[in-house]
Amino acid sequence: MATYRVRLVVNGETVRANVEPQETLLRFLRNRLGLTEVKSGCEQGDCGTCAVILEGKAVNSCLTLAVQADGKQVLTLKGIEKQEIGKLLQESFVAHGAVQCGFCTPGMIVSAANFLEKYPNPSRNEIRKAISGNLCRCTGYKKIVDAIADVASRVSKNQ
Ligand code: FES
Ligand code: FES
Repeated sequence: MATYRVRLVVNGETVRANVEPQETLLRFLRNRLGLTEVKSGCEQGDCGTCAVILEGKAVNSCLTLAVQADGKQVLTLKGIEKQEIGKLLQESFVAHGAVQCGFCTPGMIVSAANFLEKYPNPSRNEIRKAISGNLCRCTGYKKIVDAIADVASRVSKNQ
């Protein structure tokens, strides 16, 4: 099968590879780059656990082809946790008990970080809406919303 040469920047590092046309960004990141923080759940766009930031926008990497990321910037949780907002979110999720099995957590933090960068002072309803594409089977969402709201209030106070 024909392959395509791609070059993308993942968590600040340039990656070059040949990819098959049907290879998803999720499989590329996990299987080829070993970035297992990008969780594989439904692979149908329903659970949000595979979320990454592509060119500044949170996307489900299971619905994005690796070739679509050619020439673009990709951030996974490993990249986000080096940023202040990512550190604050991780700490806050732990402090609020918003992590149980932890499977949804990388995608939640990716979505929350991307959202707070754009909307630093959201209401709880806006936070709920922002993470509505991320499913959690364990926490009932209240603690997750508490964790994100806490970071939002700390960030907006410092602005
Ligand atoms: S694995 Fe991508 S949305 Fe579920
Ligand atoms: S903490 Fe288990 S799925 Fe969210």
